[in-house]
Amino acid sequence: MNELQKAICRDGELLPGGVIRVERFLNHRVDTALARQIGQDLADAFRDAQIDCILTVEASGIIFAMTTAMAMGDIPVVIAKKGNRRNLGDDMYTADVFSFTHQTTSTIHVGKRCLEEGQRVLIIDDFLANGEALKGLMSICHQAKCEAVGAGICIEKTFQPGGKLLREAGVQVVSLVKMDRKEDGTMCFVEE
Ligand code: G4P
Repeated sequence: MNELQKAICRDGELLPGGVIRVERFLNHRVDTALARQIGQDLADAFRDAQIDCILTVEASGIIFAMTTAMAMGDIPVVIAKKGNRRNLGDDMYTADVFSFTHQTTSTIHVGKRCLEEGQRVLIIDDFLANGEALKGLMSICHQAKCEAVGAGICIEKTFQPGGKLLREAGVQVVSLVKMDRKEDGTMCFVEE
């Protein structure tokens, strides 16, 4: 069992609707030793990928983007921001992201000066569910003519289709923890 799995067992709560409560250690109160370990594990997974920078989306993804970037030797982190900024002119790459969890669509944006053409980009986020946030971040990489080398995820929910769809599309997705939902509504770890 890795450190994140141990934390989920110790302090997480698995709700019948398929939501994993992690606010005591991951995204509200942050266990910083765990966050550092997550960064190290994701950095190790992409050690040979020659990553130039990390791309994430606010808010919770920033924590693990930062620890991964520091473990990779202090490479830059680019944070996609939420909110409609289309009226700020054409100096932004934008993508619309539909959230299944919240049933809302938000626009994420990254300043054009923050990504350089040809950079090898690693996308980092805390959860992978339907994959909408990752698809939006990949669209931004595409607009910036960067190469989205892969995605590093803390928790993937395998009973939602994002991970499968992205892997079928050829994206290298590394998830430190994969969780499935059993027929009785409870959740379990997927061991590989
Ligand atoms: P998707 O990008 O893979 O399609 O996922 P989805 O739209 O469902 O996720 C929307 C938000 O819900 C994201 O946070 C995501 O981190 C969070 N989320 C998804 N599944 C879970 C879960 O099981 N437990 C918890 N605690 N959060 C989950 P966000 O709205 O972007 O907010 P932020 O926390 O990053 O600020």
